[in-house]
Amino acid sequence: MATARQIPDLLSPEFARDPYRAYRAYREDAPLLWHEAMQSYVVSRYDDVSRVFRDPVFTTANYDWQLEPVHGRTILQLSGREHSVRRALVAPAFRGDELRSTFLPVIEANSRRLIDAFRDRGEVDLVTGYSTHFPINVIVDMLGLDQADHARFQRWYTSIIAFLGNLAQDPGVTAAGERTRTEFAAYMLPVIRDRRANPGDDLLSTLCRAEIDGTSMSDEDIKAFCSLLLAAGGETTDKAMSALFANLLARPEQLAAVRDDRSLIPRAFAETLRYTPPVHMIMRQPAEDVELSGGTVKAGRTVTALIGAANRDPDRYADPDTFDVFRTDLSATTAFSAAADHLAFALGRHFCVGALLAKTEVEVGANQLLDAMPDLRLPAGFTPVEQGVFTRGPASLPLLFTPGARIVSGAA
Ligand code: HEM
Repeated sequence: MATARQIPDLLSPEFARDPYRAYRAYREDAPLLWHEAMQSYVVSRYDDVSRVFRDPVFTTANYDWQLEPVHGRTILQLSGREHSVRRALVAPAFRGDELRSTFLPVIEANSRRLIDAFRDRGEVDLVTGYSTHFPINVIVDMLGLDQADHARFQRWYTSIIAFLGNLAQDPGVTAAGERTRTEFAAYMLPVIRDRRANPGDDLLSTLCRAEIDGTSMSDEDIKAFCSLLLAAGGETTDKAMSALFANLLARPEQLAAVRDDRSLIPRAFAETLRYTPPVHMIMRQPAEDVELSGGTVKAGRTVTALIGAANRDPDRYADPDTFDVFRTDLSATTAFSAAADHLAFALGRHFCVGALLAKTEVEVGANQLLDAMPDLRLPAGFTPVEQGVFTRGPASLPLLFTPGARIVSGAA
């Protein structure tokens, strides 16, 4: 087994600058690597990463320390029947019918409100002026929470994601995450109690009412799930939206093709998830010793599965370092279901419950943005730079466009 010294270290600035170069070295030279500082194995090949997600021997016990201190106990930690019952309680709200009938208008209105603030200006930083607000505003509205508290929600989810990705164990990040748990509980528990007494047609009321085989969710369960939703549904979709535009702007002919044929948006989003996934790594803890490429993973140790590396494995995707909306070896039909072949939403029983919501948000958002900015472009000489190691996306995306265009597409 190789050691971390031979290839760019996961915690090094070199890795953060260009993880994709490092991923190639990981896949080729160190498919199973022990990282001493992280106390974790690292796997990078497509077959290994997809096995880690699918094979139940790889438990999610790692979330006991990686997430429970900030969220409380959530669905991500559960397994077996306990997990399937909990999943059945929450999943209906995120399926196609419910999404279309209840939440599509919320998604459309939130996107339009953000675009209205800049459509006449002729310029916007898509990251700070749109993407970081859009998905979180949608979840806040879906749950029936107060948009006036937006800044607090954003601070909370940013500290939760930082806690999850605190690979270097920075004590300041740990303390901020623990503070968030206390603050979020103090905010949320009275809201949940009130919603039980005065239910409405929002997702929070649905969660309060949900019951399967006599099992329902306690106030603490619901609070933990809402905390997970803010973090899992906020930063991820935010980065995906910016990355989609960064990828298209770098390839004007593909941007033109998507602008002219909006049915290509899901393909462009699926390719974005493969090429530049918002979540670059996910951990697991095997219950028994397991053989993977390059050696044995010991029971109880942590395994870090590099989604960003697996999605660019040349054994799975032809010419993997090329962004191509028209590639034939990535299925856009299954990209947002548990039958997906890219690994950006993981696979198996913890496959992202919000994948269809993310797809709907990106379809609505991309359609409205393309309508509002028909001639969108980057300033001359500007090249987007990605930032982040655990989660990753464009740091900033300043766009120029001719103001005054109206939204005309069917999605608006
Ligand atoms: C592009 C956007 C998104 C990406 C890339 C993404 C990624 C992921 C990944 C990788 C997992 C699996 C974690 C694991 O197996 O350890 C996951 C699970 C999950 N995601 Fe997402 N997510 C996205 C959007 C959303 C949205 C919009 C929501 C809801 C508002 C959401 C809610 C969840 C939940 C609740 C789980 C846990 C499912 C379970 O444990 O059964 N995600 N997501």
